[in-house]
Amino acid sequence: MTYLVTGGCGFLGSNIARYLLEQNHRVIVFDNLSRIGSKDNLAFLKSLNKDLLFYEGNISVYEAIESVVKEHRPEVVFHFAAQVAMTTSIERPLDDFKTNALGAVHVLESVRLHVPKSIVCFSSTNKVYGDMIERTYDETPTRYRLVGDKQAFDETTPLNFQSPYGCSKGSADQYMLDYHRIYGLKTIVFRHSSIYGGRQYATKDQGWVGWFIDQAIRIQQGTLNAIEISGNGKQVRDLLFGDDLTACYMAAIKHIDTTAGQVYNIGGGYENSLSILELFQALEKMLHIQITIKQKPFRQSDQLIFIADNTKALNDFKWTPKVAKGIGLDKMLRWVTEIITKEESDFCAVVNSDSDL
Ligand SMILES: NC(=O)c1ccc[n+]([C@@H]2O[C@H](COP(=O)([O-])OP(=O)(O)OC[C@H]3O[C@@H](n4cnc5c(N)ncnc54)[C@H](O)[C@@H]3O)[C@@H](O)[C@H]2O)c1
Repeated sequence: MTYLVTGGCGFLGSNIARYLLEQNHRVIVFDNLSRIGSKDNLAFLKSLNKDLLFYEGNISVYEAIESVVKEHRPEVVFHFAAQVAMTTSIERPLDDFKTNALGAVHVLESVRLHVPKSIVCFSSTNKVYGDMIERTYDETPTRYRLVGDKQAFDETTPLNFQSPYGCSKGSADQYMLDYHRIYGLKTIVFRHSSIYGGRQYATKDQGWVGWFIDQAIRIQQGTLNAIEISGNGKQVRDLLFGDDLTACYMAAIKHIDTTAGQVYNIGGGYENSLSILELFQALEKMLHIQITIKQKPFRQSDQLIFIADNTKALNDFKWTPKVAKGIGLDKMLRWVTEIITKEESDFCAVVNSDSDL
């Protein structure tokens, strides 16, 4: 099979691409290499298979993606290329729109015109549900809780696009569904909150689990005194490990007769939910440190809780997350340590080469 992975040098894209290469599929990666770490992920994928087809291009330029679809006629397209930070979308809404909303329509049009029988998988976001302040919450010493029995959100949660990122991803999400309704394209929409795992290059603006692990390691190393957080740290998300996400997408494709034109909330579920404060407690134990917090105001449109109800995915394509948060956090700690160690050795190499001059 031929698979096209847009954003294939990012976190989710490189995980799926790695899996597909290991299964000996033909893989085409399309990415503009704008994300920190994307060049490293490309080198990693090439190290797995030097025949990997890579196109450096911008998804917001129609001809760039159309020519790849037309030439290679992929049977499955994973559309991951995106501007991924809420904060950046507020600073640069037009760029965010061009990449996320327009870019998605470019993918859909290319598929509609050249390979209309192919499958398109799209990674949408919990942000399409807005900040959900109309819900009632209470709080424990470490986390917010929804009042009532139900702690997770399913796909019937009303859409409420907020923030440029919420609007651009939400538009793309709705276009995906509409191209199924109007043109019969086999699109599947997955709405995620927090995914973490190897090959993720977390930043302050995106990938909070990886970012706080990075900060905790720096506290352990003695190069940082306190960790800055937005809000009181009781915000809760369910954590989904990268391997579980790959398994989810592959299972959904296998059941395309059921999943085409559908939307799925996909996350780690209630058992794998964690607040920022609870993550800090876990990191204090794992790294034998004491974390001091520096509190900043809440970010705009920050949900107090998002936990995915995975029931529809379980019913439709028998998927459920397998990696428990304890195991996932151990693996993530190893991955972030690897990145920091590499950064330090790259820095030493530059200093040494400068001193040679
Ligand atoms: N990681 C998460 O927790 C999470 C949660 C919800 C939704 N998502 C969605 O999943 C998708 C992938 O997320 P990720 O975590 O892998 O992000 P990522 O930033 O690691 O990967 C995105 C990739 O897209 C590329 N890219 C960005 N702009 C581009 C453009 N204009 N043209 C071509 N390529 C471009 C980047 O270089 C990067 O390699 C995104 O659509 C994101 O909105 C991710």
